[in-house]
Amino acid sequence: MTTTNSHAFDHAPMANCPFMPVFGPPAIMFERGRGTELWDSDGTRYLDFLAGIAVVSLGHSHPVVADAVGAQLQRLLHVSNFFANPVATEAAVKVNELLLGATGHQGQIFFTNSGAESNECAIKLARKHGGRGRHTVVSALGSFHGRTLATLAATGQPAKHEPFAPMPDGFRHVAWGDLDAMRAAVDGTVAAVLIEPVLGEGGVHPATAGYLQGIREICDETGALMIVDEIQTGFARTGKWFGFEHAGVGPDVVTLAKAMGNGVPVGACWARVDVAAVFEPGDHGSTYSGTAIATAAVNAVIDEMQRIDAPAVAERQGRRIVDALRPVPGVVDVRGRGLMLGVELADGIDAKAICADLLGLGLIVNAVTPSTIRLVPPITVTDAEIDEAVAMIAASRAAHGGSE
Ligand SMILES: Cc1ncc(COP(=O)(O)O)c(C=O)c1O
Repeated sequence: MTTTNSHAFDHAPMANCPFMPVFGPPAIMFERGRGTELWDSDGTRYLDFLAGIAVVSLGHSHPVVADAVGAQLQRLLHVSNFFANPVATEAAVKVNELLLGATGHQGQIFFTNSGAESNECAIKLARKHGGRGRHTVVSALGSFHGRTLATLAATGQPAKHEPFAPMPDGFRHVAWGDLDAMRAAVDGTVAAVLIEPVLGEGGVHPATAGYLQGIREICDETGALMIVDEIQTGFARTGKWFGFEHAGVGPDVVTLAKAMGNGVPVGACWARVDVAAVFEPGDHGSTYSGTAIATAAVNAVIDEMQRIDAPAVAERQGRRIVDALRPVPGVVDVRGRGLMLGVELADGIDAKAICADLLGLGLIVNAVTPSTIRLVPPITVTDAEIDEAVAMIAASRAAHGGSE
């Protein structure tokens, strides 16, 4: 294995790397983080406007989360689901309270370890709720719902399915934003519609309120469940606790992960009590569902986000970024909600090249399409950090030309 100080593994030859080659060669080895800042092993500082892909919403090494997890490590980590632990119970109550506020429905939680597992749980729940012959899940083209076989099948990106065919049966995709196509697709075999409130990996496209309201109506008319995938949007990122709140609709099932643990791997599938009631003991499970250690992080994240009013902060700082970036030559659009933003570049500017350039300047972002850069910084990002990042984007853009 070849490593250098600040750079990660040399993937050539790949066999020298200890990881499976499912990701591109990692560019940098990070050793330390605080807030929006990261330092590599040479001590070089970076601003992290990717936040571990919308995960560390309270910033790296947040002291409240670190203290809660550290204290829990000394007390109790894990007892299995044959027994309860007070930490997970408290977290379930807190998440239910947030979703009761957002949906108006009492619900129940299944804790998971990742976003894909949250969606797996939702898909199984929808299939059991639908009953025999009614197991299809409809989702949008361009969507992303995970990498397990079922969640990959739900992901509306056929190129990602191709190497793993045959895919599990019972998934259907329709054009994003097209309610007529959705209406036509939701027939008597459909158990659920699975939808992101902002298409994240698909280019940062917010759903209109009318689109989510229309899906709610279609689900009400047909009896299909409305599952909203809040894995990337959830926990204040879009300027509300959950992305669906922008549309004023209440889903039946909500899936969560990412920001919920601020980097500690944890997720959840939440469902209205009457929907969750179709599950019986033995229907679903996971050894690590609701460990005390993961849910200690969830409790700390919720407490801290409530203390700082994270949705309002995300809204305010998102507006600051949008206002600062819109006048930058070569930026043709800045779309999104709160601190989940897509920067659309003019024709001829390659988003990947800009991202590589920005990394060299010390700013971490990523390209979600050939012309779109995604910005999902920690919600705790400061005004000065925003100004610094915007200056770097403007400098990089100027160096790359393209139409104005
Ligand atoms: C909207 C959405 N759903 C599901 C997932 C899958 O989550 P995980 O990678 O934790 O399995 C992601 C991950 O990026 C996502 O953005």
